[in-house]
Amino acid sequence: MKPFVTPEKSSETTPPQTAFVFDCIRCGCSTYAAAQDFRCGRCGNLLEISDPAWNRLDAGRLKAEWRERKSSNAVLDLSGVWRFRELLPAPASAQHVVTLREGNTPLYELPQCSRITGVKQLYAKHQGLNPTGSFKDTGMAVAATFARQAGYKWVACASTGNTSASMAAYAARGGMRSLVLVPEGKISWSKLSQALDYGALTCQLRTDFDGCLRLLQELVRRAPVYQLNSINPFRIEGQKTLAFEVMEQLDWHAPDHIIVPGGNLGNSSAIGKALVEMREIGLIVRLPKLSIIQAEGANALVRTVREGGKRLIGVQAETRATAIRIGSPASWEKAVKVLRATGGTVEQVSEMEIAQAKAEIGAEGIGCEPASAVTLAGLKKLIAQGFVKPEESAVLVLTGNLLKDPDYIMEFHRGELFAEGVKGGDAKLNALRHPPVVLDASLDAVIKTLERAE
Ligand code: F0G
Repeated sequence: MKPFVTPEKSSETTPPQTAFVFDCIRCGCSTYAAAQDFRCGRCGNLLEISDPAWNRLDAGRLKAEWRERKSSNAVLDLSGVWRFRELLPAPASAQHVVTLREGNTPLYELPQCSRITGVKQLYAKHQGLNPTGSFKDTGMAVAATFARQAGYKWVACASTGNTSASMAAYAARGGMRSLVLVPEGKISWSKLSQALDYGALTCQLRTDFDGCLRLLQELVRRAPVYQLNSINPFRIEGQKTLAFEVMEQLDWHAPDHIIVPGGNLGNSSAIGKALVEMREIGLIVRLPKLSIIQAEGANALVRTVREGGKRLIGVQAETRATAIRIGSPASWEKAVKVLRATGGTVEQVSEMEIAQAKAEIGAEGIGCEPASAVTLAGLKKLIAQGFVKPEESAVLVLTGNLLKDPDYIMEFHRGELFAEGVKGGDAKLNALRHPPVVLDASLDAVIKTLERAE
């Protein structure tokens, strides 16, 4: 199979010009080149990237360098991913780099959610403000760069929508074609339309996300296409930068908790990897607890962890938070490792809890997509259990933009999101609903409506 690292020169045993290696997360064997399916040639498990040079870096110099780059207009420095390039795999040449100025997203305070939950220092890291509206862009910047460097014409992914939107954009920027496999009828139109606009060949398959991913993994073994799902360890490397940014934004004082939604479990793995690396280098002195929240109807990791974390307990996934409608998460072993390393936990939340949390985040004036709102819903549960304490600090990772799923929002506000029996029944949800009002075009009608609203 075709290797990805400097293909003309590298082999599994000879060091290429770039120094990073691929380590198998289970059997521990390392290679300089990864096969097309990004799986360990010996045991078939996932790979992760490491570079011996990372441990020799000086924390103080890194912090100063990264801060200085914020005032630079150089292409690499303008990217909130490549700004942190010392802790990323290095491409053979800067000419291969694909970037849309991803990252550099805000860390917002959440005063209202802070009052609701009782957690005094509560923040949202809003990855929905990336170029294509989701956290996927940070990983895609790195993985698309290595796809381009390896000379691939086609890149491909299976997706619940955001990966495909991001991949299609980065492929277009990098001069590559993109093939998208999505479950028919199970992703939002907003995400699908992004892939179309960025020129992807989009296939709606009559299966779920897990079926799409299985097919993709077969495909990359047979056809010369480069896999851009988070099985690809370059994606994980790019997504580490979320954690670097959060720490920089908090002046390198690690929060007590980071709470992230769990779907295919690439993002939680990436954030956890970054935290561990940052502590090893001395960029932070203690690890935040990284907790992963899933929808009740797509709770494979929750079940897996509660059964001891040794084998994946897959589920038939169902949730209106379609981004995380995933039953067999590919990176479950990486996620279990991260939970253990940071002392975090897993939790699941109901559809009603997700809808309420989403509306509460929206009421802060920042908004997010349903999958992101599981973080606030999960935080409430972690507080109730005493796992998060009111005097501690917590960062919620908002993974996608509010505009990613307008159908969900309209149905929520019109009271149509849930089945008949539940509809309108919950007082807390009703207080958060703001359905549009249809009126005659008269001043009188508008004034009356205004008075009623006071
Ligand atoms: N939030 C959003 C908005 C997502 O799109 C995803 C995953 C997740 C959370 C979960 O992240 O998979 O790294 O655990 N979306 C993928 C996709 C699966 O195809 O867009 P994860």
